[in-house]
Amino acid sequence: MRRALVFGGTGQVGQSVIDRLRTDGWRVTALSRRAQPDVEGLCWLRGDFDAMPPMPGAFDAIISCGPLDRFGRWYAQTDVTTPRVVAFGSTSIETKQVSADAIERDLVRRLGEGEANVFRTARSRAVAATLLRPTLVYGVGRDASLTRIAQLARRWRRFPLPRGANGLRQPVHVDDLADAVLACLEQPASFGRAYALPGGETLPYREMVARVLSALQPPAQLLELPPTLFRAVLRIAQASGRAQGLGGAAVARMHDDLVFDAESAQADFGYAPRRFQPRADMFEAPRNDA
Ligand SMILES: NC(=O)c1ccc[n+]([C@@H]2O[C@H](COP(=O)([O-])OP(=O)(O)OC[C@H]3O[C@@H](n4cnc5c(N)ncnc54)[C@H](OP(=O)(O)O)[C@@H]3O)[C@@H](O)[C@H]2O)c1
Repeated sequence: MRRALVFGGTGQVGQSVIDRLRTDGWRVTALSRRAQPDVEGLCWLRGDFDAMPPMPGAFDAIISCGPLDRFGRWYAQTDVTTPRVVAFGSTSIETKQVSADAIERDLVRRLGEGEANVFRTARSRAVAATLLRPTLVYGVGRDASLTRIAQLARRWRRFPLPRGANGLRQPVHVDDLADAVLACLEQPASFGRAYALPGGETLPYREMVARVLSALQPPAQLLELPPTLFRAVLRIAQASGRAQGLGGAAVARMHDDLVFDAESAQADFGYAPRRFQPRADMFEAPRNDA
């Protein structure tokens, strides 16, 4: 039976990756900083990249669904061996490169350092590594973008956007990312390569938000405000701590197209993400996360 070591397995993407691996008959060892219950085919280790517990010396694959910079540093110095590494990065490595926000630029630096470490180490050990860069992730009520919008819209019964928020987006479902991991594990064409993984539909930001609002039960109303009025509303929301992650750089990007081509992922491992058809339950936090 094949054995996988998974990092970030409690995360929104990692949980789906573990489910897919177990369904495919893999035995999974996963790391979390908190104690997690073992189940058939899944054994949890408790630890941190900075304080790793003892673990078996070899796996058929190592999959990283957590912080890439930390994974890259751990991978560069570990004795654990594997012929196959698949690690998640982010398209933010491109979209936030010239951000006005220093925290976003630091994220770009850490993603770059992580990718470089993974590929450098893999090359030196003749290991096949693949980097997967998702766009905006949604699906299980644990993302900090569309779920956050849905939470606020449920409370307010409406959600404001600045007029003209028509930058293009490609939201991608967590299960399509998990399918991509399983598909590329087997595909030599993906060895040594990095792929953008956009969702299966490209749509304007305002349309993406409008679909989320109309999927809610009851639906919420989209309010398109003149930019000055929107900024005033945003300042009030920020002052009350309700607009985390919605700084000036994020608002400015609502007008920018963040579009990536799925063609090479499709050609190399049959990547076929779904269209964006949101349902209310996709934006509800799971009970144990609430
Ligand atoms: N969310 C998005 O929109 C998005 C977009 C593009 C790319 N990505 C990338 O896709 C991957 C998965 O994202 P996600 O949204 O599923 O992540 P997430 O839900 O935030 O989960 C993060 C995971 O990383 C683990 N983790 C965090 N710090 C750790 C540490 N110091 N040591 C060990 N484990 C640690 C956490 O495990 P414990 O808490 O159990 O320890 C958790 O399982 C990440 O690489 C992310 O950068 C996400």
